Amino acid sequence: MSDIPLSDVLGEMRRTHNCCELGAGDVGKEVVLMGWVQRRRDHGGVIFIDLRDREGLTQVVFNPGIDESLHKKAHAIRSEYVIGVRGRVDNRPEGMTNSNLSTGEIEVTVVELKILNKAKTPPFLIEDNVDVSENIRLKYRHIDLRRSQLQNNIILRHKAAVSVRNYLNKRGFIDIETPVLTRSTPEGARDYLVPGRVNPGQFYALPQSPQLFKQLLMISGFDRYYQIVRCFRDEDLRADRQPEFTQIDMEMSFVGEEDIIGITEGMMQNLFKDILDIEIKPPFSRLSYTDAITRFGLDKPDTRFGLELKDISDIVENSDFKVFSSVVKKGGIVKALNAKGCIGFSRKEIDDLTQFVAVYKARGLAWIKVKEDAWQSPIAKFFTDKEKEELAQRLKMEPGDLVFFVADQPKITNEALGHLRNHLGKKLDLIDKNEFKFVWITHFPLLEYDETEKRYKALHHPFTAPFEKDCRLLKDDPLSIKSRAYDLVLNGSEIGGGSIRIHQRKLQEKVFEALGMNRETYEEKFGFLLSALDSGAPPHGGIAFGFDRLAMILCGQSSIRDVIAFPKTQKAACVLTNAPSKINKEQLDELSLKTILPTVPGS
Ligand code: AMO
Ligand code: AMP
Repeated sequence: MSDIPLSDVLGEMRRTHNCCELGAGDVGKEVVLMGWVQRRRDHGGVIFIDLRDREGLTQVVFNPGIDESLHKKAHAIRSEYVIGVRGRVDNRPEGMTNSNLSTGEIEVTVVELKILNKAKTPPFLIEDNVDVSENIRLKYRHIDLRRSQLQNNIILRHKAAVSVRNYLNKRGFIDIETPVLTRSTPEGARDYLVPGRVNPGQFYALPQSPQLFKQLLMISGFDRYYQIVRCFRDEDLRADRQPEFTQIDMEMSFVGEEDIIGITEGMMQNLFKDILDIEIKPPFSRLSYTDAITRFGLDKPDTRFGLELKDISDIVENSDFKVFSSVVKKGGIVKALNAKGCIGFSRKEIDDLTQFVAVYKARGLAWIKVKEDAWQSPIAKFFTDKEKEELAQRLKMEPGDLVFFVADQPKITNEALGHLRNHLGKKLDLIDKNEFKFVWITHFPLLEYDETEKRYKALHHPFTAPFEKDCRLLKDDPLSIKSRAYDLVLNGSEIGGGSIRIHQRKLQEKVFEALGMNRETYEEKFGFLLSALDSGAPPHGGIAFGFDRLAMILCGQSSIRDVIAFPKTQKAACVLTNAPSKINKEQLDELSLKTILPTVPGS
């Protein structure tokens, strides 16, 4: 770093304007600007600096003809130095205006300069689309956040929160904080646990969501609750999953599904109008869980494009292609996807797609290329003319098409083809990026069977109400019970989920029992809830939206890390602060903890 003296402090200098707001109307004014040096250019003696602050850029000029010592001082300035300048707003000379910049018609001729702080050469350029690994960006997040793209994302996120708050406040919702040090409430992920000094051997859990507290608030009579709240889940991370993330959490009393759907559709309509000035028109479309899986393979379908899956199990059940027929005989299904006009895919492309579906456990990806006069395919020879005709009809096969097949247990077949469908939707450019397609998924199964744990699990959470007419099936046919849950899906992303809750003790106990808990276990874990349900619990329901996911979609980003100021890496680490970190023995002793891993020597 150069050896120039720093101009101590601000002194008498007071900022008068932001770097975005000066225009032709300000010519002649004396102004004071403060910010960071985006760029310094030397042009035949005159030094130009693009001065940047949160709002924008202004060009400031150091002219040796006006003040030689000032000009000399300006020579020492480097990128990302923090400076303050006093000067006069001038028109830029003929031909030098920049119509891409809001301040492009003017420049500020400097008469006083304060170098408020120096800066080391930044590890990467402060520009959008900068070519640098995400790890480096996260390590220097305070610098990364200076890029206008990230600034815009974070500011947009703030505006989205304001829009949501305004909407809910106007409708009588009350923002109530709930504990962060709490007991675990099951949402299906692992808990982050917190020990404390006062209660040796015992742990708090960080909330996976405020689920039970918001239900208790309904029982307390608050009627309409919301909170924009941090939740914590120790789960495998992806582009749209963080270990700590934010929900717009809501709960209402004396409501049914339509009330919650209605009020949240209005919230989305308002949000998209406020933030993107886009009109989205409720009511949103709806799909039952079964239809979503049947047609799209996933319970969060991207409905911006077709390419729907077709079940062909009945056609191939007795065919000579044993891979297909044996799967059907063992209770599996065979489904297909017709990639229209994709006959030109190379062997390598098909191999890559086979690997793609293997990630979802598919054991193969059979295919047929439909030529004018015949089928080209490793499996065509196994089918009779009748089977071929039925396939052609069901799959609307026409010359030029490429049809893919997966045969497996229903879960694997649907997931593999559902993800293949999304992949092809992108690869074939079938998605209109300016479109926002919302769809409610309803009528989820209440329970699913967990093969590894050999027990039923709640598909949402154990407090979700079943449809009343299905309750009688709890003992004999639990998998066929449908729940009063609903998820909101936007462009293939699950942005929210909720349900009408169980508000009567008896039913809640029955559901706990269906989940394999005996009285002792559920009394121990959920006694407080059961006793609250017994104290006059109103019918109630709610929903929670993934605020990071919503912000990501509103910002047109593909990772929630780009809308979180200080996100964690795929390994749940903060590389800026180096969290998590080892702790020393004294701290462990204080918490009555022992670790089997090495600790940091005492400090
Ligand atoms: P759920 O578990 O479906 O419901 O969560 C609600 C929404 O939160 C978002 N989300 C996440 N976002 C980022 N990173 C994560 N790890 C993550 N996990 C979930 C999703 C999801 O739709 N208490 C219930 C809600 C209720 O029943 O009212 C709940 O938490 O967008
Ligand atoms: P094989 O007879 O194993 O050579 O397989 C013939 C074709 O069927 C290959 O294209 C495989 O990818 C495909 N295939 C194998 N198993 C499956 C399966 N379970 N589902 C779909 N296609 C499969």
